[in-house]
Amino acid sequence: MSIADHLTARRGASLNGLVRAPGDKSMSHRAVILGAMATGVTGIEGLLESEDVLATARAVEAFGATVERLGEGRWRVTGRGGFNQPATAIDCGNAGTGVRLLMGAAAGYALTTTFDGDASLRKRPMKRVTGPLADMGARFDWLAAEDRLPVRITGGGLSGIDYVQTVASAQIKSAILLAGLNADGVTTLTEPEPSRDHTERMLRAFGVEIGVLPTGTGWQVSLKGGQALTGIAVTVPGDPSSAAFPLAAGLIVPGSEVTVEGVMMNRLRTGLFETWREMEADLTVSNRRIEGGEEVGDVTVRHSALKGVIVPPERAASMIDEYPVLAATAAFATGATVMRGIGEMRVKESDRIALMVAGLKACGVTVDEEPEGFTVTGGPVRGGATVVTHGDHRIAMSHLVLGLAADEAVAVDEPGMIATSFPGFVELMRGLGGAVS
Ligand code: S3P
Repeated sequence: MSIADHLTARRGASLNGLVRAPGDKSMSHRAVILGAMATGVTGIEGLLESEDVLATARAVEAFGATVERLGEGRWRVTGRGGFNQPATAIDCGNAGTGVRLLMGAAAGYALTTTFDGDASLRKRPMKRVTGPLADMGARFDWLAAEDRLPVRITGGGLSGIDYVQTVASAQIKSAILLAGLNADGVTTLTEPEPSRDHTERMLRAFGVEIGVLPTGTGWQVSLKGGQALTGIAVTVPGDPSSAAFPLAAGLIVPGSEVTVEGVMMNRLRTGLFETWREMEADLTVSNRRIEGGEEVGDVTVRHSALKGVIVPPERAASMIDEYPVLAATAAFATGATVMRGIGEMRVKESDRIALMVAGLKACGVTVDEEPEGFTVTGGPVRGGATVVTHGDHRIAMSHLVLGLAADEAVAVDEPGMIATSFPGFVELMRGLGGAVS
């Protein structure tokens, strides 16, 4: 295979320096979608210009919004206060968040839309979102297989529902809330544990009234249909899920000190930092401030003698995308790191439990797989493998980070997919001194 088919990370000097994380992916999708649903201009600063978000930008253009790039991370979305009938199918690429939120938004309007995605997205379950949207009155025709893209949605004429989620999922919650904006009556949903609340926060900023009630371990979120959105200015802070990779490298490569500035510190996103602290990581957060309605901070790590921990299952929602990179750092810890209650990882961009178990084992790490979790036992990490990523960006970046501290180099296939969430990953890691080529 040619060089472009692989990326390789090898142990070298320590990693040192200060970098900025790319814009948060969750907030970037939402800023573009809400901007398109709103009336007037939404100016966005710090938008993540990744493949996933660009697919969402193209989608809202197809729904009639005007989308302009004014400069690096500076975008303007001009909404028409609703979606128009698109002329073609909407291709969401690799983006689960993009397609699920857009399906929710589109369901509220009297349109017929076909949604599709790449090979990975076509394998992911969609009924978790289309089920409640159908209960609200939207119609779905599965064009290939039930529960999988491509699907044709006919929306409009929705009624609000009272929906109880069995898993904490911000994608399901957000799809229902966005549909509820154009439904008759009140839409209420209950989550067993709180998932990331960017949709709720951003909807409020666009002028929507939302009620939130605690319910024991979780919460109940509700909104009344028929509320209009007005364009606003949005500042997107740095993505903690992306910041995790250079920080992980800093923790496991001897002699390192890495700072990532401007990282979103929303407590529903920072479970990994809490877990690393419990592992005795030298991790500090400074310069806490509010940017774009979210708390942000500068996160500094130094190489640390990590200790294995049991990650509380109730923390899963606040770090669901971070278990792969946690597992990479756990391989260098003393003792076992037990990660349970994370069955959702099997339906992300890939079966992330299966791929982390396979990749770590190929690198000589002791791993035990369970149906809804896995345990990594730290020790010498041999490396010396080419890891199969199934085109999953986070599987690729997690193993490259591992390779920076392993005895032998680690390669990953399909490295181009890293651009779905973290364009510039390789340059950023190299800038810190990481040997990635
Ligand atoms: C996201 C929610 C999470 C996460 C995904 C982004 C979001 O998915 O894994 O990367 O932006 O709402 P679930 O809500 O399905 O757990």
